[in-house]
Amino acid sequence: MYKVVFPLISLILTAACGTSVPADGLVFDPSSGKEGSIELPTGETVNYTAYEKLYFVTNVEDPTYQYMNVYVPEGATQRTPIFLRTYVGGYMASEAAAPQASDASGRALAEGYVVAIPGSRGRNSKVGETWTGRAPAAILDLKAAIRYLRHFDRQMPGDAERIITDGTSAGGAMSALMGATGNYPDYEPLLDAMGAAKERDDVFASVCFCPIIDLEHADMAYEWLFKDTDSRLAGSEEQQKVSAELAAQFPAYLAGLNLHKPDGTPLTGDNFLDYIKELLIASAQKAKDAGADISADLGFKFNSESRGRFAAPINGGMPQGMNGSNRPMMRMGGGRVGEYIIDLDMPTYLNYVVSTQPLKGVPSFDSKGVLGSRASGENEEFGDAAGKAVNFTEYSASLTGESLTEEIQRNVFLMNPMNFVGNSKATNAPHWYVRHGARDRDTAFPVPVVFATKLQNAGLEDVDFLLAWNRPHSGDYALDEVFDWIRQITSR
Ligand code: DHB
Repeated sequence: MYKVVFPLISLILTAACGTSVPADGLVFDPSSGKEGSIELPTGETVNYTAYEKLYFVTNVEDPTYQYMNVYVPEGATQRTPIFLRTYVGGYMASEAAAPQASDASGRALAEGYVVAIPGSRGRNSKVGETWTGRAPAAILDLKAAIRYLRHFDRQMPGDAERIITDGTSAGGAMSALMGATGNYPDYEPLLDAMGAAKERDDVFASVCFCPIIDLEHADMAYEWLFKDTDSRLAGSEEQQKVSAELAAQFPAYLAGLNLHKPDGTPLTGDNFLDYIKELLIASAQKAKDAGADISADLGFKFNSESRGRFAAPINGGMPQGMNGSNRPMMRMGGGRVGEYIIDLDMPTYLNYVVSTQPLKGVPSFDSKGVLGSRASGENEEFGDAAGKAVNFTEYSASLTGESLTEEIQRNVFLMNPMNFVGNSKATNAPHWYVRHGARDRDTAFPVPVVFATKLQNAGLEDVDFLLAWNRPHSGDYALDEVFDWIRQITSR
């Protein structure tokens, strides 16, 4: 699928598109910087030097996307960490951009970090009649950008040994892939064909918001979690059949991963829902401790409730102020709600999640041709350069009669960060910050939980994971916390 596009062709394309693409090697001109500034929501102005249109491969196939912009704030040195933000969303192509005042890129500049924003091809990018960005093009472009930063590390301010990647959703998947796949040999011939720099491509840290990953297991995880929700039970008989068949596949997948909780307990289909419940309770408790109003209507049970106005004790028997909070107890429906969440009714909570946004269809990812469904973005992502969308799971392919060619299977493998965590042929980032909203239904909780658990089990330096309270499918939030974490990992 990946055609090597020779310099001559790229020159023709280049001429057509009016860009200047070097045909004779990668280029960085330190004198090409332009001064600019950005004003943050706080009113603070950050001055920077911008290096734009840095083509990170020599065989440029798609000149709209295969370059990067780099922004160096005043005061940055060779030792300054590099914050690499990808704007991939929906597995679509993403053009290199300037930092945004309201997201992590602007904040990173204000914190003094060098900011790199690479473009990348995606499922909708096209040159002439050729679809240029089907899997694994996006991660190849991003790895080429990382190699470019290493290649010119001495000429450019910023420390390419301390790259922190960040992205949301499909971009969170890209950030996870950059973090997990460092130097993995299977990407090498593909990167060589593109004319990427011959450099390492491992990174220092990976910040992943709601990563849409593990696509070949995401359908089974989705039905395993949601199949008994009111929404799914209102579906047709055929939908419920497919939902049940997919759900039934998840425990065997989980068992094969050999994961264990931080306390050493092996995770199985029997205890996994309880583990997700523990994580949701921990998240809600953290939010409650910070002042959020956690409603019992969502399925939570508190240490003391509906005991009447003067019931005591209501805070686990501790005097006020000794339980980490000086806040008074909340009242609910005439009763009082204790300081501690002691349980969560998962069916109630899952119905609540679905009430905030309707579920995806059945199947949720590999939908093409199943129960009359159209191709999903993921079906396109794994499709070919002629624009065809394809099935990418054995289950859906078995229903539609499509075959999973070796090429599709290879692409699915290369697009799933799960395959590389703890893999001895990959250099994993030692630092991870992973967030998935506690009411995000774009992929089901098991997907990020399994990923974070795999990272934790791999013995990496730190894995900071949270099902972030009350967050929908979104990213670059709680930036004070994100940048505290980055400061900690970069000042060790
Ligand atoms: C994104 C969201 C999805 O639901 C999905 O399946 C793929 C990508 C996104 O927002 O990037």
